[in-house]
Amino acid sequence: MPALTFVTAHDIASIRTMAGLATPMALRVAVTLGLPDRLRGDGVSTEQVATELNVSPVALELLLGHLATLGIVERASTGHRTTDYGASLCADADNGLVNFLHLDMAGGRAEMALVELLHSITTGGAAYPRRHGQDFWADLARFPHLRESFDQQMTHRFRDQVPQILAGYDWGRFPTVVDVGGGHGTLLAAILAAHPRMRGHLVDLEPTADGARGTFAAQRLADRAQVTAGSFFDPLPRGADAYLLCDILHDWDDDGAHRILGRCVEAVPPTGRVLVIEPVGGRRDSTGFDLAMLAIFGGRERRIDELDALAAAHGLTLDAVTDVSDQRCLLEFRLAATG
Ligand SMILES: C[S@@+](CC[C@H](N)C(=O)[O-])C[C@H]1O[C@@H](n2cnc3c(N)ncnc32)[C@H](O)[C@@H]1O
Repeated sequence: MPALTFVTAHDIASIRTMAGLATPMALRVAVTLGLPDRLRGDGVSTEQVATELNVSPVALELLLGHLATLGIVERASTGHRTTDYGASLCADADNGLVNFLHLDMAGGRAEMALVELLHSITTGGAAYPRRHGQDFWADLARFPHLRESFDQQMTHRFRDQVPQILAGYDWGRFPTVVDVGGGHGTLLAAILAAHPRMRGHLVDLEPTADGARGTFAAQRLADRAQVTAGSFFDPLPRGADAYLLCDILHDWDDDGAHRILGRCVEAVPPTGRVLVIEPVGGRRDSTGFDLAMLAIFGGRERRIDELDALAAAHGLTLDAVTDVSDQRCLLEFRLAATG
């Protein structure tokens, strides 16, 4: 065992900083209370904000004191005000942080599953149900505001990725594509817009499917983009040339992933393809994200050989792996018996 004298006071302080929950929670509570927005402009007294928000003035002062040490707020003669840095936590900052931190939005609520990480490490399964009483998807079904914030988060995260994925692969080869769990349809809409002879069919749960209808209508693609509200654990529309699973399998444990792949294989014709787009495991430094995927979904970013093995169980052969964006690979599978 190494002698403790090798551990400096600085080492201990830095481990405490890494491990302390006060800062992550202070940021989350600040965003949930809307403090960065409320304290924009001139300083506001703690008493006034506490009255407006119906919170304890003494406790709020402690929170603001900590946020000041982080540079999120600063003290002015009239009270606390949000700094330029802290404004990145305002609702209109449009950088995804509010959804990530807000305790009553999908992203922030999901992150709190990490508090139960021990459960995930012990069982290998999701900690979200232990934290919130039901799994992530059931929670979204029960609380429409969570579903809405999740769909927004998904669309937001893909803003830079969609043009890359579109340019990084020959989508025009496929006259028809089914986007399985296609969300609000941002990617499918971009593919169809770029390839006027293609037709698409998106499957997702309501009300997300309805959001996809809105996307296609707004982009005048409704005549080529069908939407079915339903589960990918049920039979999928049959006979398309390609079945796209974009960021789907990593949300599920092996059992769930097998069931989804099974539905794709049962629907795909002998010459069709199953296309898996994911941030493939082992390709980037995403250890923290790996733990989050485990705690939230019981899922993970599988390596290429793991995805290959998963698909092989359904008679799929991996034909090609393409880096379609700086974060994601596309794995193209065909039925093993076909060329
Ligand atoms: C991580 S998001 C990916 C969305 C989209 N493919 C994208 O890349 O933007 C996962 C999607 O799976 C959908 N989903 C979850 N469970 C589903 C189910 N049982 N059947 C169909 N879709 C489901 C969610 O509604 C969500 O849109």
